[in-house]
Amino acid sequence: MLFLQLVLLVVFLPGSDSEDAVQEPISFQITLTVSFYNRSWTQSLGSAWLDEIQTHGWDNKTGAFIFLWPWSKGNWSNVELIKLEKLLYAYFVGLRQVFQDHVKHWQLEYPFQIQLAEGCELHFGEASVGFVKFAYQGADLTSFQNMTWWPSPKGGSRAQEVCKRFNQYHVLNEEIYTFFSDTCPKFLLGLLDAGKADLQRQVRPEAWLSTGPSPGPGRLLLVCHVSGFYPKPVLVMWMRGEQEQQGTQQGEVLPHADGTWYLQVSLDVKTREAAGLLCRVRHSSLRDQDMVLYWEQPHSKGLVFLAVMVPLVLLAGLTLWLWKC
Ligand SMILES: *[C@@H]1O[C@H](CO)[C@@H](O)[C@H](O)[C@H]1NC(C)=O
Ligand SMILES: *[C@@H]1O[C@H](CO)[C@@H](O)[C@H](O)[C@H]1NC(C)=O
Ligand SMILES: *[C@@H]1O[C@H](CO)[C@@H](O)[C@H](O)[C@H]1NC(C)=O
Ligand SMILES: *[C@@H]1O[C@H](CO)[C@@H](O)[C@H](O)[C@H]1NC(C)=O
Repeated sequence: MLFLQLVLLVVFLPGSDSEDAVQEPISFQITLTVSFYNRSWTQSLGSAWLDEIQTHGWDNKTGAFIFLWPWSKGNWSNVELIKLEKLLYAYFVGLRQVFQDHVKHWQLEYPFQIQLAEGCELHFGEASVGFVKFAYQGADLTSFQNMTWWPSPKGGSRAQEVCKRFNQYHVLNEEIYTFFSDTCPKFLLGLLDAGKADLQRQVRPEAWLSTGPSPGPGRLLLVCHVSGFYPKPVLVMWMRGEQEQQGTQQGEVLPHADGTWYLQVSLDVKTREAAGLLCRVRHSSLRDQDMVLYWEQPHSKGLVFLAVMVPLVLLAGLTLWLWKC
């Protein structure tokens, strides 16, 4: 999909008047988690993400960005990036202080965690959308929309108090609004352009079959493993001939450290019905040539083994006998 998005992005960049193209939005998101242990001790962890690809880390002591890809700077100059680093760090320090100062008032209890997710989403052919939202102990607290902080319905009086406070920071709120509705989408476009070669790359999966833990007597759990592919969208099916099998269990698509993906898809079958099943893998890197893996029953492997070994042993015996004679 990402690949498709990028292709479409090239076609429908702003200025194009095509309105009816249906595409998934793509987002750039900064996340920050701050753990408050007591009045003087906090820990924080920040990162930035292009959809599901981490693009930046964050040095929590200096506030410096860590660029994880050669293209993580997008089309920004070092001067601009340092300016942004300083701005975000000042924002972070201020934020931490506001929470420390309001522990009593907002009924926060040590130790607690504040999570911040902020960024922008590019909708093709429409204005992009900026978002900023906070969570307390993993539950939504407040979000920023139309220049105003809104309490989350489940946030209770705490969320209302936080919003009341945040809504007093008029200048800051205007800056936040401009940053996420204007600066962020520009940066995102620069990032997509600079990272083209990596973002549009195609990596072929490897695939293999195995059995999982037996689901019961006379049954087999067939597992089809598909590993190391990029981009993420993939279709993996257990089939008999052209017939897709009911009861296929699809796992979650899991990341490898190198940015490629892994998926396993299993099927619970009666042992005697396993013959003739196959796993079919469809992925953009394979173009129209689906990968097909046939299930071979262990006992049929055993038969092949016997079929090869028995004549060999007989032959060896015969040779030995002839030689002795
Ligand atoms: C705050 O917590 C840290 C780590 O748990 C601890 O080392 C420190 O002594 C605590 N400080 C206070 C003032 O309680
Ligand atoms: C900074 O982040 C690291 C994890 O990346 C964490 O171990 C460390 O405690 C953090 N330091 C501060 C001061 O938050
Ligand atoms: C807030 O902004 C959204 C678009 O982001 C708009 O649809 C909505 O009408 C606005 N609401 C108010 C109260 O201005
Ligand atoms: C980066 O690229 C975006 C989108 O193409 C553009 O709007 C922006 O002006 C560029 N920024 C710089 C600093 O060149």
